[in-house]
Amino acid sequence: MNYPEPKHDSFPLMVMESSVYSPNQCVFQNDEFGVWLYHANCIEFMDMVSRKYPDGRFDMIFADPPYFLSNGGITCHAGKMVKVDKGQWDKSNGPEMNHEFNMEWLLRCQKLLKPNGTILVSGTHHVIHSIGYAMQQLRMKILNDITWEKPNPPPNLSCRYFTHSTETIIWAAKNEKSKHCFNYDKIREINSGKQMKSVWTFTSPNGDEKCFGKHPTQKPICTKRGLS
Ligand SMILES: C[S@@+](CC[C@H](N)C(=O)[O-])C[C@H]1O[C@@H](n2cnc3c(N)ncnc32)[C@H](O)[C@@H]1O
Repeated sequence: MNYPEPKHDSFPLMVMESSVYSPNQCVFQNDEFGVWLYHANCIEFMDMVSRKYPDGRFDMIFADPPYFLSNGGITCHAGKMVKVDKGQWDKSNGPEMNHEFNMEWLLRCQKLLKPNGTILVSGTHHVIHSIGYAMQQLRMKILNDITWEKPNPPPNLSCRYFTHSTETIIWAAKNEKSKHCFNYDKIREINSGKQMKSVWTFTSPNGDEKCFGKHPTQKPICTKRGLS
C-alpha cells in the first residue's frame, strides 16, 4: 500500500505534568509522518491543547470512547462463555454520569476542531445514543451514522437476543455552519465507481493487525482507510 506524502504542519511536543489520573506522557513520536501518541487523560490533555490553540487545531478527530458495557454480562470468546470485563475504564457509572463524561470530552473535541472540521465517534448501543444526543446538545451537525457490520460475530450464547453484529460510527461537523470536506470522487473510485453506502462490512482485526499487543476493542485498519 502506497500512502500519500504526509501533509502536516508541525505540531509541537506537548509536555504535561503527570496527574493522579494518568502519566500524561508522549509514548510514541514520528515527526516524518506527524504522528504523536500520548498516554494521557483525554480531558486534561485536550484542555492543555486548547490553551495553546484556542481557535481550534484539527481537521478531523476520531474517537473510540469507553462503551460502558463491562457490567457483569456474558459473551463468547474463542468458543467459551466468559464475563464481559474489558477493564475498569469500561464499567458504567449509570446513564447520567456516562452522559456527563461524554458531554465533557465531546465539548473539548468541538473546541479543538477547526471551523470546518469533523469528528467521528464509534461505539455500540451502550454508548452511541448518548454520544448522538450529546452532539445534538452541543449543536454539532450530524452528517452520517455509519454501520460497521461484522460478517463473523461471536454467537449469542443466551439465545434471547439477535446476534450483536454491528457497531456505529457517527460522523459530525463542528457546528451547523461548518462546510465539511468529503472526498466524493476518491471514495467513489475506491468503491468501484459506485457511491459508497453508509453500511461497511468487514471483519474484526486479525492477528496481523494485533502485532503490537492485544486490546479488547481494537478497530480494524479498514475503518481508518474509509475515513481518511
Ligand atoms: C473502546 S476503547 C478504545 C480502544 C482503541 N480502539 C484501541 O484499539 O486502542 C476505549 C479506551 O479509552 C481509554 N480511556 C478511558 N477513559 C479515558 C480518559 N478519561 N482519557 C483517555 N483515555 C481513556 C481506555 O483506556 C480504552 O483504552
